[in-house]
Amino acid sequence: MYSLTKKLETMSKPIRKPFQFETDSITSKNKPNSNNEDINSVIRPNSSPFNHRDLSTGELRLSDTKSYKFTSNDLIECGVIGEGNFGIVCKMIHEKSGTMMAVKRIHSTVDERCQKQMIKEFDIVMRDNTCPHIVQFYGALFKEGDCWICMELMNTSLDYFYKFVYHKLDQFIPESILAYITFATLQALDYIKSRWKIIHRDVKPSNILVSRTTLKLCDFGISGQLIDSIAKTRDAGCRPYLPPERIDPTRATLDGYDVRSDVWSLGITLYEISTGYFPFREWTSVFDQLEQIIEGPSLELKIDRLSDNCKNFVNTCLNKDEKQRPKYKQLLEHEFLRKAKQLHKTENVSGYLSHIIDGLEKNTDKFQLYYYLPSNSQ
Ligand SMILES: Nc1ncnc2c1ncn2[C@@H]1O[C@H](COP(=O)(O)OP(=O)(O)OP(=O)(O)O)[C@@H](O)[C@H]1O
Ligand SMILES: [Mg+2]
Repeated sequence: MYSLTKKLETMSKPIRKPFQFETDSITSKNKPNSNNEDINSVIRPNSSPFNHRDLSTGELRLSDTKSYKFTSNDLIECGVIGEGNFGIVCKMIHEKSGTMMAVKRIHSTVDERCQKQMIKEFDIVMRDNTCPHIVQFYGALFKEGDCWICMELMNTSLDYFYKFVYHKLDQFIPESILAYITFATLQALDYIKSRWKIIHRDVKPSNILVSRTTLKLCDFGISGQLIDSIAKTRDAGCRPYLPPERIDPTRATLDGYDVRSDVWSLGITLYEISTGYFPFREWTSVFDQLEQIIEGPSLELKIDRLSDNCKNFVNTCLNKDEKQRPKYKQLLEHEFLRKAKQLHKTENVSGYLSHIIDGLEKNTDKFQLYYYLPSNSQ
């Protein structure tokens, strides 16, 4: 078990990762009203006027019948799961209920208005999630300017999962499993759009989580807020899953975000998990990236072992002209997914997921951030 001091040390550790960016964050040093006090108020959309201190106590809703008021002191850190561009994800246990969870701590790169908005979004998502392929949120609070988001702990992410299969086991993910992953992800994307009017905007393997029985999408909603807040300081060229229409400087004034941008990111994700490689050669600069994506030939998944239905599905998502890309409903009707809709009943998805997770849990090898397409291909 980690002590609270250890917990705070980890929190204040500067996080570095390729594509790291700097923003004008409000730190706990210069932010007014910042201290360690916890004030007993539950986070509700209609609660008293916004005040940072009010948000250091939250509601942890573990099920319809089980909820607790909580502060960060009720959670004990049990290890770091991973670091992203916005913060760190740790495994933590809620002592009172004995519930193990994943807690994402995001640096305070967003202002108070955004923080309040984020809490509102979490609250809605927490209470209203009936989709089996969306990660369950338990609650959120703010601590010293960091937002702590508590959610269901999954075994791993699709990112580690596919890298382990291709680059450690030297195998590939079977097509029936690819279809199941695609179906689960699409169902979740369609749900967040139709139910909550949320466009994900950060679809990629690390945001698709894997358990022994299923897959679940995470990092939506908040990602919209965060991406907006960092977009001013972060070069679009540093976001490898963005579609041509989002990175082309000649179309930089483009307003709004269409689900078809997420369809492109899904296409890149599917290419990656079907081949084991990110579908571009390694970029030497942002200009190189722009050139490959915008001016280069269209991407095409061409592997013989995959069916025409599978290749057609992925290649349709990767159409450079967003107007030609299908939206979710049309994709959900695609022939490639016909069997996947029944797969959990007819084939052993959980057997496969469990088998790979068993191996991953024993694995000590580190994986690269990206396995770029070898330079002699495409
Ligand atoms: N609920 C969860 N259960 C298990 N692992 C999780 C959970 N949430 C996130 N992770 C994992 O923690 C790691 C860090 O996640 P995080 O979202 O901070 O970064 P990322 O997705 O890699 O990048 P980005 O910040 O650009 O979204 C990732 O490997 C992610 O898959
Ligand atoms: Mg993530």
